[in-house]
Amino acid sequence: MAKKAQATWGGRFSAGPAELMLRFSESVSFDRRLAPFDIAGSKAHSAMLAQVGLITKRERDAIHRGLDAVGRDIAAGKFQWSTKLEDVHMNIEQALTRRVPAAAKLHTARSRNDQVATDMRLYFKAACAEIIGKIAAAQRAILRVAAKNRDVLIPGYTHLQRAQPVFLAHHLFTYLEMLQRDAQRFAVVADHANWCPLGSGAIAGTTLPIDREFTAKTLGFVDAAGRPRVTQNSMDAVSDRDGFIEFASACALTGVHFSRMAEDLILWASQEFKFVELPDAFCTGSSLMPQKKNPDSAELLRGKSARLQGNLHTLLVLAKGLPLTYNRDLQEDKPPVFDSHDQTALCLEVLAGTFAGMVVEKHKCAAAVADPALLATDLADYLVRQGVAFRAAHHAVGAVVKLAEQRGVALDRLTHAEVKTVHPAFGRDWVTSFHLAKAMARRTGTGMPGPAQVARQFKRWEKLLG
Ligand code: ARG
Repeated sequence: MAKKAQATWGGRFSAGPAELMLRFSESVSFDRRLAPFDIAGSKAHSAMLAQVGLITKRERDAIHRGLDAVGRDIAAGKFQWSTKLEDVHMNIEQALTRRVPAAAKLHTARSRNDQVATDMRLYFKAACAEIIGKIAAAQRAILRVAAKNRDVLIPGYTHLQRAQPVFLAHHLFTYLEMLQRDAQRFAVVADHANWCPLGSGAIAGTTLPIDREFTAKTLGFVDAAGRPRVTQNSMDAVSDRDGFIEFASACALTGVHFSRMAEDLILWASQEFKFVELPDAFCTGSSLMPQKKNPDSAELLRGKSARLQGNLHTLLVLAKGLPLTYNRDLQEDKPPVFDSHDQTALCLEVLAGTFAGMVVEKHKCAAAVADPALLATDLADYLVRQGVAFRAAHHAVGAVVKLAEQRGVALDRLTHAEVKTVHPAFGRDWVTSFHLAKAMARRTGTGMPGPAQVARQFKRWEKLLG
């Protein structure tokens, strides 16, 4: 009975696959999501077959109508998927053949090997476009937090120790930069996917007079000038899984960024920092401790990044050591890709939602950034402006910090007489170094956190993100 269903390759078999083997080898449970791409590929392929005279225009039209009907059934959830038919390709072809006798000619000059490679390249182009859109939405949510808190200053950290003051916006713009690079990477992945493998057949093309360029053009595998892009080696085309790895890699690196942003938010939301209050809608409570509000969305963003890295690793290990060309192992390439796609998309939405509902606790930020020690470097720069060599200035300010610690006072509470004993170049105006607004205004170079530069970056991001 299984043999009957296997009309696509059953010819040389006298027994169908074991029920266990069917369960083991089917991929339709996950690759059915390729259906829209598979149908687009089959429409382009049959259009090409008609173009070169391998099928009639009438047969092409019947196949197209049948494919559209199958597509409608699938979209409406009315399609009967069968694991006996292994994968999405055979399910669709068989359903089509039941409706349209001419569909028996659809697989002319085609193999599931170049078919699945084509489906996946179409899928990657669509998935990258979707993720790029979601990245922009997350960036806009972050930009809004920055815009609402334009004047807020916080300590910037290195080694998780207070380092120097920065505008909160400057810190948040870091996230925009990370995500911008991610978006660029997905654009590169989409560009790499933009080559049509159809016509490579199982491994060695076909003896039939096909027109690969026609198919490529029909499917939108074209360069900026509209010229068709077709893969240049039939064996490479059916065995290449670089695009899978590149896509998963882009997801994994985006995940690393999720994780780093999340870690900041988790710290900032803690009682110890309290720079922000995360939205209730993205937090949960404790079943035991009534006072708890846990930053679960951020923690899960951090956690999901492990999963994204795992998927990349799965693909790297899957591809490594495989002989050319197609091997059935490669069917296992789809679940990690789909999972990375879905989780990255979900994470981006959650990231946007978490930022959208986040409230900045301005007083807490102001209290933290009021620490005059954050401007110790500015004090060294003051001495440099008085002509002291930086190394000597650094040393002198270090001694001033030590002195303040010994006296048990804040750095800016020492007297002029006291600091003068440390270094004669400290003038009466030494203490103006601790004027926060003036200190920020001195940071004028590109990429620095001074107010003019931050304003410039606001303009840049507003323009970039619309
Ligand atoms: N479901 C298969 C996969 O995803 C399609 C290609 C099958 N090719 C084959 N020679 N069995 O890998």
